[in-house]
Formats: sequence, C-alpha cells, structure tokens
Amino acid sequence: MCGIVGYVGSHVDGAALDVVMEGLARLEYRGYDSAGVALVADGTLATEKRAGKLENLRQAIIDHPLPPSSTAIGHTRWATHGGPTDTNAHPHRGGADGKLALIHNGIIENFHPLKERLVADGVKFLSETDTEVAAQLVAREYEADRDLTQAMLRAVAHLEGAFTLLAVHADSPGVVVGARRNSPLVVGLGDGENFLGSDVAAFIGHTRHAVELGQDQIVTITPDGYDVIGFDGEPTEARAYEVTWDASAAEKGGFDTFMEKEILEQPHAVADTLLGRVDPAGRLVLDEVRIPEERLRAVTRITIVACGTASYAGMVAKYAIEHWARIPVEVSLAHEFRYCDPIVDENTLVISISQSGETMDTLMAVKHARELGAQTLSICNTHGSTIPRESDAVLYTHAGPEVAVASTKAFLAQITAAYVLGLYLAQLKGGSHAEQATTILAELRGMPDKVQTVLDRMGRVKEIARFMADTRSVLFLGRHVGYPIALEGALKLKEIAYIHAEGFAAGELKHGPIALIEPGQPVFIVVPGPDTPHDLHKKVVSNIQEIRARGARTLVIAEDGDEEVVPYADEVIRVPHSSPLLQPLLTVVPLQVFALHLATAKGLDVDQPRNLAKSVTVE
Ligand code: AGP
Repeated sequence: MCGIVGYVGSHVDGAALDVVMEGLARLEYRGYDSAGVALVADGTLATEKRAGKLENLRQAIIDHPLPPSSTAIGHTRWATHGGPTDTNAHPHRGGADGKLALIHNGIIENFHPLKERLVADGVKFLSETDTEVAAQLVAREYEADRDLTQAMLRAVAHLEGAFTLLAVHADSPGVVVGARRNSPLVVGLGDGENFLGSDVAAFIGHTRHAVELGQDQIVTITPDGYDVIGFDGEPTEARAYEVTWDASAAEKGGFDTFMEKEILEQPHAVADTLLGRVDPAGRLVLDEVRIPEERLRAVTRITIVACGTASYAGMVAKYAIEHWARIPVEVSLAHEFRYCDPIVDENTLVISISQSGETMDTLMAVKHARELGAQTLSICNTHGSTIPRESDAVLYTHAGPEVAVASTKAFLAQITAAYVLGLYLAQLKGGSHAEQATTILAELRGMPDKVQTVLDRMGRVKEIARFMADTRSVLFLGRHVGYPIALEGALKLKEIAYIHAEGFAAGELKHGPIALIEPGQPVFIVVPGPDTPHDLHKKVVSNIQEIRARGARTLVIAEDGDEEVVPYADEVIRVPHSSPLLQPLLTVVPLQVFALHLATAKGLDVDQPRNLAKSVTVE
C-alpha cells in the first residue's frame, strides 16, 4: 500500500532527497508499483517519478540529477485509480504554474464530480488518478492567501473517502503540510529537521521521537517544529511518544529474506507478547484494556473481525475463548461484516485483529460495530495505527515490525494475545474458569521454548520443500484448532509460492474434497495430540488412512511420541506436546518454513510477492 515520506531540514543540500529516498526504501515492505519524489529548490519545484521498483527512480535521478534542497516529499504507489505508469505515479502537480506537488495514500471517493467541476473551470489533467484532483484543489486554494496549511484545510473540506495527503509548494520552502482521514500519518521530530511518514519506519534511521496524529487533522512541519490543527481549523494537541525499536529491527540482520528472519523471531514474538501481562500473584493484568471490568463481565457474545492470516488467528481464538470463558464467539471476515446485518449490541465485544492496524476492511468493520453500540477491542501490532485509535481498548502484540508481506511472527503473536484475552475473560468469570486460566497461563509461558524446538528441527522440512519446487497443488487438512492452521498453511503457499493450495477441515473431506485426491497428491495433515477430547486424534488418523488409500502423499505434523500416525505417513514432522488449544503456535511453524523454502527454490521474491501489499488500506 502507498508509502509516504516528508522532510524539512535547515540546510539546503542533498540531504532532503537522501532522507526521502531512504524512507521510501524502508517503506518498500508496504508493497508498491511506482515511486516518485518532489523537491522545493530556489523557488522552483523539481519532481521525478517512475513506474516499477525504487531502482527505476534511483536510475532516473542519476540520469537527471535533482537540485539541492531542504524540503522534499516522496511516495511509493500501489495503484488503485489508473494503472501503474510513470504518469500516474505520485507526486502530482497542481496549479496552472505546476508549482504545487502532492502525494496521497487512500481513495478519494468523490473525485469524479470534483474532477468534472475542475475540468469545467479549465483545469487540465494529466493522469487518471483521483490524487491529481486533490493536487489541483490544494493549488487552487493556495492562490487565495498563499498559505499552504490554510489551502490544505479548505481543500480537504471538499474531499470524501480515505486519505493521507502531503503537499509542498515552490513558493513555500521549508514547509511540508500533511492531512489525514482514515489513513496513516505520523510525525518524526529531529534536531533542526522534522519528518512525516506513513509509519515510523520512514524516519527511524534519524529519530525515535514521534507524534501520533488523530483523525481529521492537518500537520505543518518546518525545520523548527510542527503545528497540528483539526479539519475545523482549531489548534489541537497531538500525543508524542518514543519508538521502542530501532532501524536494525526493520533490517534483514544478515538473513536472505525478511520472512526467514521473522519466522526465526517467533519465540521472541510470543514471549514479548506475554511480557508484563502477569502480576506477582500470577494473575493476568491487561493495562491497555480501557473497558471497565463490569462491562466485560456483562459481555454475552463476541464477534471477531479480521482479514487473511489475522482471521485465522481469530478462528483459533474462537476455540480458545469459547472453551475457557464459555462466551459464544463468531468470526467474521471484516469485509463481509457490515453486509451480513450483524447482530451486535452493547453486550457484544467486537475484537479486531490486525498486524498493521491500517487494514481498511477491518477499520470499517470496527467503525460499524461502534455505531451499533458494541464494545470494541483491537489486537494490533502497530502502535499509533488507526484501528487501535478507533477502538475502546487495545491489546498490543509485541512482535516488532513485520516487513515481509507474508505474515508469520505477527500471526503467532496474535494467537498469543487472543489466548491472553480468553484467559483474562475466564479469570473475570472466576470459579473453575479462573483456576483453569492459571494452569493454562503457566503452560503458555513455556511455549516460546517449544516454538524454538520446532524451529531447530526444520532441516527435513526444508529438504522436502526443495524437492517439491515443481509441485502444482498442495492440500492441507486439520480439525479443531488444526483447521485454521490448515487454512494458514494453504494461504502461505498461495501468496509466496504461487501454488494452488487449499485448506480443509479434515472431517469435510468425505463430503466432496476427497475427489481431488489422486496418486501422488501431496497433503499436509495437522494431527491433534492423542489426548485431545472426543477421540479427535483417532478421527484424524482415520482421515489420513482414507487419503493414503487413494494414493495421497501424506506429510503429517504430529506430536512427539504419537506412533499411531507412523504407518500412514510418508513423512512425519514432529512438534513437542502441548495442550490441544495451544498447539497452533507449534504446528503452523513447519508450514511457514515449507512455504518459504519452496518459494525460494522457485527463485521467487519471498518478501514482496506479486500483486500483494503488506498493508491493505483500500476496501
Ligand atoms: C498474510 O500473510 C497476508 N499477507 C494477509 O492475509 C494479512 O494477514 C491481511 O491482509 C490482514 O492484514 P493485517 O493483519 O495488517 O490487518
């Protein structure tokens, strides 16, 4: 999704361009298909933009050097309106003299009527984007009083939709103005220089002092400071905070890919997400939950809204919360939530799960839930992002920055946070629920070591992945909490290895999908531990026999000591024993490693798979 960087410093040299290019490189993980920059220099505006990777922009700047400057904006674009071409790339110029440059993340929903009016007034458009409309509007407003902040304020009054906008003007050196509605923007504070970014990664190489902006706010940065006003024009306070991670945390740290690094960071992601959640008496403490305990005790139903991998974490959460806290839980894909006329009232807790905190589908579901009167709680990995700010309560995961498009460590952290929440709700219920919560919590604290054990055993999984580089289809089966893990295993393979993959509830096989099984078809099966209630283990072993009898190649993920699977397995991948509900933290790891190494064997770009963005900020 689009990445945005803004910079003003006190010296007119090459620094502004360097800072902005560095910021764009750090934001590459968001996914993009073109990039561009604009600089203010000596009363003129210089821009360069190119379709494709940042390298294309770098080469263009080498071929046509830009002048020294103290004021710059930069953008990586993920196309929505208009294809990924040089012309549609941002920045877009505004005004008859083309002296204003503007970049944008989001979608301006009413751009058609606005454009028609501007065209009728004689404005010429070069691109097919909605963004150019905003550039022309801000430029037109600038003519009234030549004040860029006031021009932005008047322009945003015309806009509907979601947007972060940054603008510079050739006649206003040393000033960058930003505006945000339903789209991310943070301020970075330096010494004699200030920054704007889609997230702190944009400026983390320069400062850890950041300022969170609220919805519908406009910020103006100069080398000496920043000012924030609301869309009503009134000055407003913004919260300053310190970023707790440094630039090296967002770099590969010697690994070939971010995804590999992030898979190996999973024991820490789980451990850090548990940190500070337990008081000396062993009871759970959730400082960030701002919903009063009595309100939480009154919760009669829970709806989880999320997308993709986060929704699979939500499915795991459903099994755990229902079992521990005995509260009915429904999981809804966030983009479907509004349209199914959800039954939600003030005794409903709507839990959103999102790594980025910016997924537009999830944000809109949260807003809808609030409109319906629900309590909203966000499980999120990104401080200062939009979804937690729009929610009544937040439970942050502490996975650190996740850069690879394919989510791995955030998934484990989301499941961990969901467990913590489930145990907390059980604790609030008291009685036997609370006692059980104490036992499970003790086991949960031992899970990071078990995740590490799984990682230490991945040699054979990597070999299998390499042998299977030519495979055209892989199936994944699981039951109970193994079912969402089967779905996640399939999603990982689809998104980074471009292989057709499907996840099924193993019990569903006989109702149709077993017809897909033909000799040699590889099938991963996530096997529950032998002590899982309701003879589930035996039932899954029967499912393995059924597909093996039809020629499937069975790749079985089973607990240490589970010998019953051996006669029916072509490969057995072992994970340590755990309580049934905690098993997903272990069984998903081999599936992540498998996808990573198969995609690598195919020579694919693991961190930035085609057509995908890390942060999906459009609906
Ligand atoms: C995961 O590998 C995917 N890239 C994707 O499904 C992702 O989990 C989904 O888009 C939700 O993102 P979020 O957690 O940032 O809201």
